[in-house]
Amino acid sequence: MAREHIEFVNIHEMEWQPIELPGFTGEISQKLLSTDTDNGASTSLIYISAGSTCERASYNASIEALLLEGEAKIGKKTLSNMTHVFIQKDVELKALTFEKACTLLWMTDGRLELTDGNNSSDNQEVVIKKTSDVAWQGTITPGFPTGAMRKSLFQDPVTGASSWLLGVLPQFRDERYEIHPVMEEAFQIHGEMGTSRGDFKQGSYFWRPAEIPHGDFSTEWGCLTFFRTDGPLKTTYVNKEDL
Ligand SMILES: [Fe+2]
Repeated sequence: MAREHIEFVNIHEMEWQPIELPGFTGEISQKLLSTDTDNGASTSLIYISAGSTCERASYNASIEALLLEGEAKIGKKTLSNMTHVFIQKDVELKALTFEKACTLLWMTDGRLELTDGNNSSDNQEVVIKKTSDVAWQGTITPGFPTGAMRKSLFQDPVTGASSWLLGVLPQFRDERYEIHPVMEEAFQIHGEMGTSRGDFKQGSYFWRPAEIPHGDFSTEWGCLTFFRTDGPLKTTYVNKEDL
């Protein structure tokens, strides 16, 4: 079955479950946020103990990760808090070491199985972005109120699937509801956003299928949110009375 509509769950109310990640050593635990039971695609929070390694591995599915806490290295590159990593299917992940225990938001587009890595085209590498090196830019939705900016982290050139951070200033408010033609999922990294479904607090997560109206929005002290869609983001605004 495709993923369920989940709105909201909070990592602080979930238990860690021990798991194994193919190719990784060390102790690894997971809080599973959502999964597609057909193809095994999933979003989870994972904890990887200090000293864990992944010497060399490639996978049959793409992996996107956001390091929320800890420190790791891929070769000579250091991954610290708020580093975004994209590992394309079949691209070799090598010389990964966890210098400190790490907590990551971990997203795969299929059930992870090791491959021999021979299917990747040349020059493809793991893409590592420290989010502080990515410039803030204006929001891309026409009519989005002032008081928020985004950092674009990933866009699939074929499907338009995207990932970004949205930073919202304190005292932001938008009373409209919005509807997207694409799935939207989000994890609250910092702060809180009030909505008609309740408060989207730090550690909260949702997986929302396309065409579900959502709103309104207000935040007292601002927030930083990680978003993903499975296609190009388009937004239609609706008034609450018209729903
Ligand atoms: Fe939305």
